[in-house]
Amino acid sequence: MAEVRSSTETRETWTSNRGFIFAAIGSAVGLGNIWRFPGVAYESGGGAFLIPYLIALVTAGIPILFLDYSIGHRFRGSAPLSFRRMWRKSEALGWFQTALLFVISVYYAVIIAWSLSYFYFSFGNKWGDDPATFFTEDYLHAADPGVSSELVAGVAWPLVGVWVAIIAILALGIAKGIEKVNVIGLPLLVLGFSALVIRALTLPGASDGLNALFTPDWGALTDLNVWIAAYSQIFFSMSIAFGIMISYASFQRRKANMTSSGLVVGFANSSFEILAGIGVFSTLGFFAHEQGVTFDNLDGLTGPTLSFITFPAVISEMPGSAIFGALFFGSLAIAGFTSLISLVIGVSVAVQEKFGLSKEVAAVAVGIVAAAVSFGLFATTTGLVALDTVDQFANNIGIVVSAIAMCVIVVWIARTIDPLRRHLNMVSTFHVGKWWIPVIGVYAPIFLTVMLVQKVHDLIVNGYEGYPAWYIGVFGWGTIAFTIVFTAVFTLIGWGGRDDPDFRAWPDLDSPSTERRTEPKGANR
Ligand code: PFF
Repeated sequence: MAEVRSSTETRETWTSNRGFIFAAIGSAVGLGNIWRFPGVAYESGGGAFLIPYLIALVTAGIPILFLDYSIGHRFRGSAPLSFRRMWRKSEALGWFQTALLFVISVYYAVIIAWSLSYFYFSFGNKWGDDPATFFTEDYLHAADPGVSSELVAGVAWPLVGVWVAIIAILALGIAKGIEKVNVIGLPLLVLGFSALVIRALTLPGASDGLNALFTPDWGALTDLNVWIAAYSQIFFSMSIAFGIMISYASFQRRKANMTSSGLVVGFANSSFEILAGIGVFSTLGFFAHEQGVTFDNLDGLTGPTLSFITFPAVISEMPGSAIFGALFFGSLAIAGFTSLISLVIGVSVAVQEKFGLSKEVAAVAVGIVAAAVSFGLFATTTGLVALDTVDQFANNIGIVVSAIAMCVIVVWIARTIDPLRRHLNMVSTFHVGKWWIPVIGVYAPIFLTVMLVQKVHDLIVNGYEGYPAWYIGVFGWGTIAFTIVFTAVFTLIGWGGRDDPDFRAWPDLDSPSTERRTEPKGANR
């Protein structure tokens, strides 16, 4: 384990650039790639969706990823500490991002628990010939929107396993825990998922599915909602503006090629997304073919329904179904798990730094609180609806607010965008041009604000999925209220003596000599 020591503190680092890249890809590639992207693309113009998607990648995804990296790498802390070092008053933004990580982690873990159950169910087609009833009634015992304290055993047991594993890995730390899991998990995922895609492509009807996914509906490009879907997908999928890429970059050694790694991570994530689209839609093409219907007559092509109802139905019709099912649900579990690690470590490092705890104590404390919420809200008979609602609000409102605030603070208030650009360029081989500044300072906040207004308006006027208004108030808007209270509480708590006044950012941006690129001995963090 490599460490840069200072007299007062040590900061763990990834053992190599490869370790960092694997962990960052492990965070990005997750449930968002496998179960969200294919359906969103299909509903938002098929092949034509790739245009807004790629534009979102280049105009927001990569630039904001670079922004996250530059903040974390220069200020060497979790989101709250890094923002605080950048401009004291922006610590609150770091806590807002941490609140979002917490909220997402508590339901994200539950989907991984479902995937583990379904991995097991694959051996023997346990869902029988009515996977919809099996999922909602037999497995989840799902009740109408409401609040229930009745735990569902089939969800709770795998969920115990997920949280115990997360706490153990976090307590092992960056190099021995997180990096190791990603270095093993990512190749396993790529191998398993590639095997699934190859099998899917050889199924009868696969080409109909691919045509449905890739045939462009150009009219979709004039629909603002399609563009909103593309930007939301990019944020969630790349794990940007959540503060986690700030933390991951803060564990990079000071001499590290940040932008090149960012390009690798961004393109790897999108490639996996397209691979997932190909795998999922070839499989669905086979389903339409087996049922003798055209593709347009298929329903249930997004979110939980796609993975836990439609897919099991297809798997049942396939020769060699157990292996195919195991590959699909195993991939979902691994991809989700490496992302969940990043969600929880983001919270745990923030708490560790603020309260001066050891990483083990922080991991256990944060893990236990998150697990309790995860069980109480989402492993119960009302968990499915709660999960769907919280996800909708955290991802469409929370993350967009976070991204806008980050861009505005960095460019217009703290005015650190140019130093951050110089930082990236001093340590990296791929240089960020001046174009970055108007993209972060003007284009992104304007576009994201339009997107936010449209989404909030839509949720106020139309509600969500026909759920009762009181329910949307408590679980939807309540989620937003929770993030605000969380932010206020953690920002207002003092740092005690744990704030490090001796922190020196490196490299020194004003010294033009090449010596500055040599990391100073004893540099703190
Ligand atoms: N990027 C993950 C996915 O595509 O499923 C989700 C995610 C992980 C979002 C970590 C945010 C985050 F900080």
